[in-house]
Amino acid sequence: MDSERRNQHATKGAGDMLDAQRGSAEAPLGSAPSEYARPAKVEFFGGAAHVDGYQAFDLTVSSIAPTDRESDLARKHLLLASLFCPRYLAHRTLLDIGANAGFYSFWALQSGAERAIALEMDDSYAELAEEISAALGFPNFTVERGNVSQWSTPADVVLALALIHWIYSCTAVYGDLDAVVDKLASLTKYMLLVEWIDPADPAIGSFGHLDWNKEKQRGAYTLAAFEQALGCHFARYQMVGEVTSSRRLYAAFRTPHDIDLSGPLPLLTPKELVISSRYLARYNGVEYWSRVYDGGEAISKQATLDLAVREARFLRQLDSSYFPHVLDSRVEGAWSLITLEKIHGTALPHARQRIADSPERFLAFVKHCLSLLRELREHGIVHRDIQPGNILIRDNKPVLLDFGWAISEEQPYFTPQGLECSGGKSDDSDRDVYSMGKVLEEVNQHTYPEFDAVIELMTAREPYLREADLGTLEVLFASAAASSTCGGRVVATRLAGTTHSESQERPSDSLGSYASAIHKLLQQISELKRRLSRLRDEQESLARQASHDEEALRTIEAQLAAMRASGSWRLTAPCRWIACRVRQVSDSVRLLQSATRTEGGYFGAAGRTLRVLWREGVPGLRSRLARMRDTVGRQRMR
Ligand SMILES: Nc1ncnc2c1ncn2[C@@H]1O[C@H](COP(=O)(O)OP(=O)(O)O)[C@@H](O)[C@H]1O
Ligand SMILES: [Mg+2]
Repeated sequence: MDSERRNQHATKGAGDMLDAQRGSAEAPLGSAPSEYARPAKVEFFGGAAHVDGYQAFDLTVSSIAPTDRESDLARKHLLLASLFCPRYLAHRTLLDIGANAGFYSFWALQSGAERAIALEMDDSYAELAEEISAALGFPNFTVERGNVSQWSTPADVVLALALIHWIYSCTAVYGDLDAVVDKLASLTKYMLLVEWIDPADPAIGSFGHLDWNKEKQRGAYTLAAFEQALGCHFARYQMVGEVTSSRRLYAAFRTPHDIDLSGPLPLLTPKELVISSRYLARYNGVEYWSRVYDGGEAISKQATLDLAVREARFLRQLDSSYFPHVLDSRVEGAWSLITLEKIHGTALPHARQRIADSPERFLAFVKHCLSLLRELREHGIVHRDIQPGNILIRDNKPVLLDFGWAISEEQPYFTPQGLECSGGKSDDSDRDVYSMGKVLEEVNQHTYPEFDAVIELMTAREPYLREADLGTLEVLFASAAASSTCGGRVVATRLAGTTHSESQERPSDSLGSYASAIHKLLQQISELKRRLSRLRDEQESLARQASHDEEALRTIEAQLAAMRASGSWRLTAPCRWIACRVRQVSDSVRLLQSATRTEGGYFGAAGRTLRVLWREGVPGLRSRLARMRDTVGRQRMR
């Protein structure tokens, strides 16, 4: 059979079954590949369907389960369970490419999807899926017959499971993983669930997918090429898990932020304009949500209760380029809305490389961050959620967003879970300095080690070791820069606010040596802090040991008390008295033996005793005896 015919007829599901059946045998592929597969069939029992074939499962209108627990289907069902839920599917359409009997389409509809389209090129499976849907009643389910290469209508969520090897060089001939992923991305509005099939997979081994249409293959079929293509055509992606050692599932997203359309906030615009939508926290039985809309030149943020208007109250006090300007705000019953100037900027994680490409640029960024913090402090505002996700970079300057959890003395608020642990006390105004230090740490990533010591001062674990004075931090950063080999005096003078030519007229090295002294001190502080931290760890471990010992002692004391109180203790008292006396007598015998040995027999010992008595009296004799007793005691111990 020629490859053209094979391309026309082969389907992913049937092909994989064929692989399983053929093993290494050279069975020919017929014009209808499904004839080699386990026959697809469905049986109905009341409101339930039992489906057999490539996908074997039991289905009712509200439940679905693979019948063979050892199958790939069961494994994928398990792996995808966290993604088949309203968080990812509510208000969304699904395109199930190579849908087979429709397992994932039915499952998605049961898990909150608005509509499911099963795209299947094998007629027998398409009919089967239609029959199931009609019998059980899935009104939002449609079957489309065709090949993915001819399909161009996008859906919110796209499934491309067990087919990448087919569309690379068999059923569609893209011949390049980048082109395959590009095609899948063009069909995906929100999330793509795709299965990677390694060249070492038994199915590829027996069917030889990669040997077909070799002349049309332009790009390598490798995991690296696949992941690179995902990184290129999607805003982010993650591995979901391994189906087998040669098959793994990925989730790739077109949007940088999660867009969870479930939840209580009503949609104010078509969902395509939503930038971000998520659950934030639960407090006093109320779920807090936030949703951000792109309104062209403005951004609108809708949030539970007064969250959005709180944000407006804080932002109206701040009037600089470090913060977005408020255009409007209002309360609408159970939610509020703020309209903001749209910041045309870059997300911090993407701008990071550029900020850190020179010590001067990094320092300029540091200076802006400190000025931003100063402005917050001057207005008595604590942001409480400074992190890369809430910072955009515009003209190389940070712009801080998201004042939902901000507080001030006049406007306290509850602390949602997850916000309280970013160092220090939850309502401590120094916490913003700490969080900004963490941001700087993330941007620097040790690119310029001379700044690490200052950043460490901002992010010290113990609040009493943390430097939170913004003026001091500015001087320390300037000194670190001046002492560095790369930034040198130019950077220091810029930070100090003077021009290069002015600095050249100054007495030459005074600033440099001053800076290097501060830098040395900083390093010493850093070393001391490390030592302190080690000591604290040791102290904690000793304290743990002491409390453990104390506990053990208390247990022994309790046992002793119980023993003393017992009748048998009182009954054995005479025996203990006798044992004590026996020990005393045996000590005296040893003492006598020792004395006669050292003093040359009984007469020698008697003579020596008299001499001691004569010279030192009774006290002298007593102390000699005590010393000898000690020696004997020690010998006994040995
Ligand atoms: N004023 C704005 N200009 C541009 N983009 C914004 C603006 N406000 C928010 N965004 C975008 O929306 C995302 C989420 O906004 P944020 O206020 O952090 O909401 P939340 O964290 O509650 O989802 C930001 O990371 C940013 O990409
Ligand atoms: Mg945010």
